[in-house]
Amino acid sequence: MRSAYTALTRKALFASGGGDPEAAHHRTIRILEQAGDSPRRRAALAKLPRPSAPTTLFGIRFPNPVGLAAGMDKDAVAIPAWGALGFGFVEVGTVTWHPQPGNPAPRLFRLVESEAIINRMGFNNRGAQAMAARLAALGPAPVPVGISLGKSKVTPVSGATEDYLNSLKVLLPYADYIAVNVSSPNTPGLRSLQDRSALDELLSALRGHTVAAAGPGGPVPLLVKIAPDLTDDAVAEVIEVCATRGVAGIIATNTTISRGGLAPSDLSRAGEAGGLSGRPVHAMAVRTVAFVVKEAGDALPVIGVGGILDPDDAQRMFDAGARLVQLYTGFVYGGPGLVRRIARAGAAHR
Ligand SMILES: Cc1cc2nc3c(=O)[nH]c(=O)nc-3n(C[C@H](O)[C@H](O)[C@H](O)COP(=O)(O)O)c2cc1C
Repeated sequence: MRSAYTALTRKALFASGGGDPEAAHHRTIRILEQAGDSPRRRAALAKLPRPSAPTTLFGIRFPNPVGLAAGMDKDAVAIPAWGALGFGFVEVGTVTWHPQPGNPAPRLFRLVESEAIINRMGFNNRGAQAMAARLAALGPAPVPVGISLGKSKVTPVSGATEDYLNSLKVLLPYADYIAVNVSSPNTPGLRSLQDRSALDELLSALRGHTVAAAGPGGPVPLLVKIAPDLTDDAVAEVIEVCATRGVAGIIATNTTISRGGLAPSDLSRAGEAGGLSGRPVHAMAVRTVAFVVKEAGDALPVIGVGGILDPDDAQRMFDAGARLVQLYTGFVYGGPGLVRRIARAGAAHR
């Protein structure tokens, strides 16, 4: 049976802004931002019932294992609302040191028949300092917050370490974990930071700072988010560097640059540049999760993300060994009801 969200809200949302997906996105974020924009409203949101399936990982207690994936709340404006919608954690960003507009529009495409999205947003965000100010003003968050860091477009790949480090320094006080995004396809050169020597340099600098800044609870955990397009050898190399550099876990996966699995009616969109998410990336993401779990075991717990559109997809991620899951495209197509259904099913199965 289609949920009320799928039947009504989604139809209205998809049609809003003249059917422009990015306009619908900004409208949704604005509504969610306003829902939590005063202490009184935040207190009201905090009282709403939410799914409880607690799990502890990386030393963090998550009220349930279903998180919001990076890229939805790039500037961390709606954290109280995400908690009220049932998410057990929120990954905000990807944020860059320099504020930047992202790529020219159109840059976001819904492929409805394929239950997929192609995006080439290019890290549009207000910058790390604006996010830090925002998080300082918000006060304690209702759910754990991961902060996803990326490289500013104006910074050459050779200067990436300093660029990430600048963001880390201002945002670390507000993060339950830091996600090092080296896998978005929409910033030229970014994915080359998954290569051994570049990754080693980046992670050793970031880890050096988290260790130096550690409080009594120990350093804030660093997680690395990887692409689904890496070969097994490349993933094995990433795992080795992560393990040596004290990384706490892996987020698998980002969007794919491949174009398999599209419905015939969406093939005309296959030529759009950018990353593909949703149903077509699911098998690749599950496979990557299983590979990381097999190679790294308990040393690098995995957050599974990619094409989770119903509770069975989430279960497949958990069966592959993921300890937490995240949604982006599934939330666009399934709404908040999906978050609750997965959290409830997860609580029953595990
Ligand atoms: C419009 C859009 C923007 C995204 N932006 C980011 C981002 O800024 N940082 C990031 O790490 N992942 C980003 N992602 C990738 C998602 O976090 C997720 O890894 C990917 O979409 C696969 O999950 P899904 O199939 O549930 O969407 C974005 C995805 C979409 C669709």
